[in-house]
Amino acid sequence: VLSHPLRPLLLTAARSQRLERGLTRMPATRRVVDRFVAGATRDSALPAVRELLRQNKFVSIDYLGEDTTEPAQARRVVDQYLALIEVLAGLPAPDSEATARPLEVSLKLSALGQALPGDGHAVALGNARIVAAAADAVGLWVTVDAENHTTTDSTLSIVRELRQHHPETVGTVLQAYLLRTEADCHAFAAEGARIRLCKGAYREPESVAFQRPAEVSASYLRCLRILMAGKGYPMVATHDPEMIETAALLATAAGRGRDEFEFQMLYGVRPAEQDRLVRLGQRMRVYVPFGDQWYGYLVRRMAERPANLSFFLRAATAQ
Ligand code: FDA
Repeated sequence: VLSHPLRPLLLTAARSQRLERGLTRMPATRRVVDRFVAGATRDSALPAVRELLRQNKFVSIDYLGEDTTEPAQARRVVDQYLALIEVLAGLPAPDSEATARPLEVSLKLSALGQALPGDGHAVALGNARIVAAAADAVGLWVTVDAENHTTTDSTLSIVRELRQHHPETVGTVLQAYLLRTEADCHAFAAEGARIRLCKGAYREPESVAFQRPAEVSASYLRCLRILMAGKGYPMVATHDPEMIETAALLATAAGRGRDEFEFQMLYGVRPAEQDRLVRLGQRMRVYVPFGDQWYGYLVRRMAERPANLSFFLRAATAQ
């Protein structure tokens, strides 16, 4: 387990352009980036998306933006999403089924302006409305990612606003490590929402989040039970064999068919397990990030939670 003192070092590294240039030129870095990021541009990411669809996997695509510090930057992110939605709408996807859409975009509200001083919440809501309407018009799903806990109230209230107009299109992420999440699962399950349940990737204080892996896993399973028993569509986002096995059992116990929930994993992580689940007839969606801001993305994910460094290293060396 990596110790906390690495964090300031990684955060400094995430901002260093010299280090970024140096690392980018190293073949080993390229291999790690290529493993976890589908391409630097929309067009270069498309072959990976097509290949996943050909393998009967569903896809969620995330544009890697930097932390948005001005409104114009947020608008550029919106434009990226609108162009992405247009391209995805033209892709030959597996037959769209009654209960799921094969193509989805994942959205970070921080990239849409949520952290702007003053009216960040309103700016992010306005921008997310534009993206949700465009996705809805062409039959794509939108899932709003979960970020650090200081944004959760704002994010979930924006999700509820969006769902008023696009209840079938918009879903969100809940993080099992947060103490509040069981209650959020109850509320969203009763509302019939589409919820991606993950463990949570940020470094959070004890006052708001479980710290021990066993506590996080126990919370994950409690949340999953609530979502499976509820009226919504659960999306089981994990690479953990114990969570995967129990999810399938809980779904059966709740009387859900294989088309009434789905598994999700990150691009490049446990591809053989992804294939196994597809062979079993389970729905499997792969989260595919693209964009040239991969450096900040990968290093910051590791800094937020140093355990992520070992997560990426393990995935990079696993078969
Ligand atoms: P975890 O890392 O806890 O590992 C548990 C066990 O799984 C390991 O002990 C090992 O047995 C097995 N395992 C894991 N990785 C393996 C590998 N590469 N090879 C072999 N075995 C492996 N987070 C967030 O805060 N907000 C968000 O919006 C999202 N969105 C999101 C979408 C999707 C589709 C996924 C899959 C994940 C996210 N996450 C996220 C990240 C999530 O919160 C979490 O940090 C990671 O998924 C890691 O947790 P796991 O449950 O995968 O297993």
